[in-house]
Amino acid sequence: MTAPRIAVVGCGYLGAVHAAGMASLGFDTVGIDVDASKVEALAAGSAPFFEPGLDAMLRGAIDAGTLRFTTDAAGVDADVWFVCVGTPQQPGSNAADLTFVDAAVEALVPHLREGMLVVGKSTVPVGTAERLASVVEQTGARLAWNPEFLREGLAVTDTLAPDRLVYGVRHGDDVAVAALDAVYASILERDTPRIVTDFATAELVKVSANAFLATKISFINAIAEVAEASGADVVQLADAIGIDARIGRRFLNSGIGFGGGCLPKDIRAFRARSIELGADEALGFLDEVDRVNQRRRDRMVALVERELAAAGGGAVAMLGLAFKPDSDDVRDSAALEVAMRLAASHDVVAYDPEAGAPAARRAPELGIVASLDAALADATVIALGTEWREFRDLDPADVATRTAARVVVDGRNVLDRDAWSAAGFRVVAIGRPDRDPATTASHQEASA
Ligand code: UDX
Repeated sequence: MTAPRIAVVGCGYLGAVHAAGMASLGFDTVGIDVDASKVEALAAGSAPFFEPGLDAMLRGAIDAGTLRFTTDAAGVDADVWFVCVGTPQQPGSNAADLTFVDAAVEALVPHLREGMLVVGKSTVPVGTAERLASVVEQTGARLAWNPEFLREGLAVTDTLAPDRLVYGVRHGDDVAVAALDAVYASILERDTPRIVTDFATAELVKVSANAFLATKISFINAIAEVAEASGADVVQLADAIGIDARIGRRFLNSGIGFGGGCLPKDIRAFRARSIELGADEALGFLDEVDRVNQRRRDRMVALVERELAAAGGGAVAMLGLAFKPDSDDVRDSAALEVAMRLAASHDVVAYDPEAGAPAARRAPELGIVASLDAALADATVIALGTEWREFRDLDPADVATRTAARVVVDGRNVLDRDAWSAAGFRVVAIGRPDRDPATTASHQEASA
């Protein structure tokens, strides 16, 4: 069998990595996007966003001659067409906006014919694949839904070595299954679990996975609220419950909560879709998951303001703006929101290793600097919003020589509180008792 030729429609965070990944496996691959500047950057081997390992993979595949990018689907001939466009939240509603998915499939229709397979990877409300299948099948082509589980920052690994492959196909569509198996042959050879199911289950697998992860994070953040009210330590608590294999320690990191282009909008769209389907009560808890998540942002703002007031005012050094480390994505970023809310009434100087430019486009009024030292220089309170390695690895004794600030508010519970307090900092964290500087504490003990 000849290797399938692949087209990837939509070259954002998902599609660009998927196209580069497929090409790196040796498939003749074309990435298609309506955004000419994105296509130009990708064709030059440089992703228009920060994703570790992606530029190298792009360049390797372009040099090997397996990967190209275009804005024009007209000249493309492919056997498998992946749909990787975005499904953002609709303005003024919780539901997903399917404009891009619908437009992408409509645009493909003139190119489709018997023997071709359209593969949806975008995260969509359950029922979408069934609806699109009726459009695709009129051309003689087939449709499969193959949700993507990649995490930003780890997208290259997640694409080439996923935890599992899920194929949603029409009942008994062995041709679609065989076509997907041909694409994923090298991944399947490593015994990667493969689940073949119907459209609705495949769609629900994806949104359920994200809903579960969001719920896990909001669970520990709700416990953090009780820990704050009772003087307990949520990090020790997470360590203790996480040892139970049924619970697991991953995604139990309390802090300012989840953000990004997936979890927040996906839980809202899932809830909206369940109501549309008449299962009104089933996912009511997701509203609460969302509310807990938003409250953590409020809490961070309040903690920083409390410390500023205690210090008699001054500036905030905001460390981190991306929604998570190893990404420059600021979509629904908790760190960026906290920075913007604080900046409404205080001096904020923000620094992020990669997300400075995207954050500045979204929040032009925010004071964003290009180095950690510039952020620390005139700070009174240091606030950590994104747990970049650069911040986690800071030597607090060294920081103490670079800033007059003596308070750090750790919004991600990643700083070594003993080391920071030993270096003379008051350490305030989410869901943990405050820590005064070690020198003050020992002084107090001595005088007690
Ligand atoms: C997520 C899913 O993990 C991925 O499978 C899906 O395909 C897309 O959505 P991503 O948005 O890249 O991926 O980020 P993820 O690593 O899941 O983190 C989401 C958010 O949760 C981040 O803001 C992160 O800081 C936060 N988070 C994560 C916590 O607050 N606590 C944790 O314990 C884990």
